[in-house]
Amino acid sequence: MVSSMASVNSTSTANTSSSKGSKDGSSGSPGVPKPMPMAIMRNAHEVIRGAMQDIQEMLDQDDFENARKLWHELHRFTDLHMAMEEGRKGCNARGIFKLVDEHADDAAKKGKLRHSHETLYELEEDVVDIFEKAPDMDRAKDIFPIFRKENEAHLTEEEDILMPSIQKMMKQGLPIKQYIKTDILPVLTMKEDKHDLEFFIRFANQVLERHDNVDGKPRVRVFDHGLWALATAEEWKVWSVWIKESLSPEKYAEVEGVIEAFEQEQEAKKAAKEAPPVESVNLRGKSPVRSKSPKRDTKSKSPKRSSSPPKSFLGKMFGMGKAAAS
Ligand SMILES: [Fe+2]
Ligand SMILES: [Fe+2]
Repeated sequence: MVSSMASVNSTSTANTSSSKGSKDGSSGSPGVPKPMPMAIMRNAHEVIRGAMQDIQEMLDQDDFENARKLWHELHRFTDLHMAMEEGRKGCNARGIFKLVDEHADDAAKKGKLRHSHETLYELEEDVVDIFEKAPDMDRAKDIFPIFRKENEAHLTEEEDILMPSIQKMMKQGLPIKQYIKTDILPVLTMKEDKHDLEFFIRFANQVLERHDNVDGKPRVRVFDHGLWALATAEEWKVWSVWIKESLSPEKYAEVEGVIEAFEQEQEAKKAAKEAPPVESVNLRGKSPVRSKSPKRDTKSKSPKRSSSPPKSFLGKMFGMGKAAAS
């Protein structure tokens, strides 16, 4: 489902590289989806799910060579994603598990998410065997579905634990975007010669486009808008080229359209804030008097806020809700 705002803007911005102007990412009207930086973690799960589905379909069609090629890339992507969760020695990235342990009651520890990775690593070795070390399509057809099932369960388990934990952190007003920049992204840039960041962005976009909107979830746009929110202006000049080269022209125009609509909205809000206050005309020749804002009735109670977030909150937070696409 392409958002109406995206389609309106896509025609006017298809040939331009989206700029990086206002980008606080803190607000967005219902019509303009706001960026969700944590989508680079949440939608990485959709990359893994999508690529596993593609590999299974290739095996079903006896297309072993393409299944092997895709596995090779998925393996690399999964290793990076897991490092973004566990943290990586050698750079200052502590990983998302450490963050939720510190700020959300040891949630990763209690949920034994690191242990769950150990189990996956063992199964992954079997898949490496049948795809890479001793290629064998018949064994791949037996073993890959076992790995896929275990991995699917792991992804769901993580979402059940991490999403409420991030929600808790947001409620505390913690700087989530800054945490991602300092504790997660360095995993992708610590080995410059390996071009992990470029691979991560390109592979994610390629896979997500194949599985975009199948269930009404705009996976590509949400992932790339999250990246945009994390990038500096200089970084975005480079990242947006990788994105553009990985997507179809139509999909890239959709992404660019939403980012531009958000930027325009932010600029309009900024301009409205900076506009001089309206002055009332004093017909008796006295100096102009500033119009007073209506007195706040401190006695009347404001509508009670529900202590628990709306059901769609978690989905919106990670960019998976339908509302984000509207
Ligand atoms: Fe994981
Ligand atoms: Fe994960």
